[in-house]
Parts: sequence; C-alpha cells; structure tokens
Amino acid sequence: MSDQQVDQHRRIWTAIACGTGAIGAGFTAVPFVASFLPSERARAAGAPVEVDISALKPGEKLTVEWRGKPVWIVKRTPDQLATLPKVESQLADPKSARNADLTPEYARNEYRSIKPEVFVTVGICSHLGCSPIDKFQTGAQPSLPDDWTGGFLCPCHGSTFDMAGRVYKNKPAPDNLEVPPHMYLSDNRLVIGDDKKA
Ligand code: FES
Repeated sequence: MSDQQVDQHRRIWTAIACGTGAIGAGFTAVPFVASFLPSERARAAGAPVEVDISALKPGEKLTVEWRGKPVWIVKRTPDQLATLPKVESQLADPKSARNADLTPEYARNEYRSIKPEVFVTVGICSHLGCSPIDKFQTGAQPSLPDDWTGGFLCPCHGSTFDMAGRVYKNKPAPDNLEVPPHMYLSDNRLVIGDDKKA
C-alpha cells in the first residue's frame, strides 16, 4: 500500500471511529456514496470530480468524494452569509492567513468561496481528522454556545467552525477547514480537484 493510500485509509477510519457525522451528514441534499472507500476514479491519482449542484437548495449540503475525502458543498442562505462578519472576533484565523495552503487564492475572501452562497470545503477536522457534523441551526443547543450562529461541530474534541469553515478560538483544531481546488464549468456544474480555469 502506498503512503497516499495509507493516509486515505487513516482518514477514513478516523472519520468513522470519531462518529457518524462523516457519513450521515452527506445525505442532507442529494444521495452521496454508501461508504467512504475511494472510488476507482478518485483513487486514480486524485482525478477531479464533476458535480451538478442544480438541485441544491439554500440551507442544504451535498457531499461528494474526492481523493477518498468527503467534500462538502453548502448552499448558504442570506442569513447564514450575514453571520460571517459578526463572528470574526471569535475566530482563530478569520482571514485564513495562518496556513495559506488551506485556502486557494480565489477563496481568500470574506466568504472563503468563489460564489458567496456556495461554500466548498473538505469535511475533515484540522485537529486529528474526524469529520465535523452540521450544526446549521442557530441558538443554544448541547455542546454549543447559547449565541451559536450556525456552522459545524467536530464531535471528537469539540472544535467548532463557522459557516465558512473557520475554526473558533481556543479549540483543539489549529486551522480552518480546507477549501479544495475547484472551479465552475457553468452556473451549476462544479469541478472538485481542478482549478486551472478558476
Ligand atoms: S479531531 Fe476534530 S476536534 Fe479533534
């Protein structure tokens, strides 16, 4: 087994061991894959994955697999977008400056995305590789602050991320969620894993 495959398997099993979020979260909008095992296509040197997001409605999330990793595509509502500037002071790295590799140039903006409403991110926590779960509902709830404005919670050690995948301060996760290379072929067709024309 190559180093890359070992790494993929480690992530897969860490995600499964840490909770059901990795798999369960994928069914919010459109059926995803039955397991986390990389498809033959993705296995082949990380081939790009094309995604149709025409059925994705505001507030929904679609999960696709790329290089054996879950990639989330979240269509954010205007209310969710409005929360982003409000939480900046509570974030560890609001401008995604700490680790530039995790945020491509075209996503280094206030939304961490090409189109404000469509957020694309790798659903793997930057701490130890668990998969965070959706916590889009706002307000008080278990494991979250009373003024929660929506985002993601990593069930393994409690790291929290806002609706742009930015990690909150004083959490175990050191970095924001990764924005993978991606680009649009048309309004509703995305390619994950290739951004030559982005
Ligand atoms: S793996 Fe996410 S907080 Fe530890």
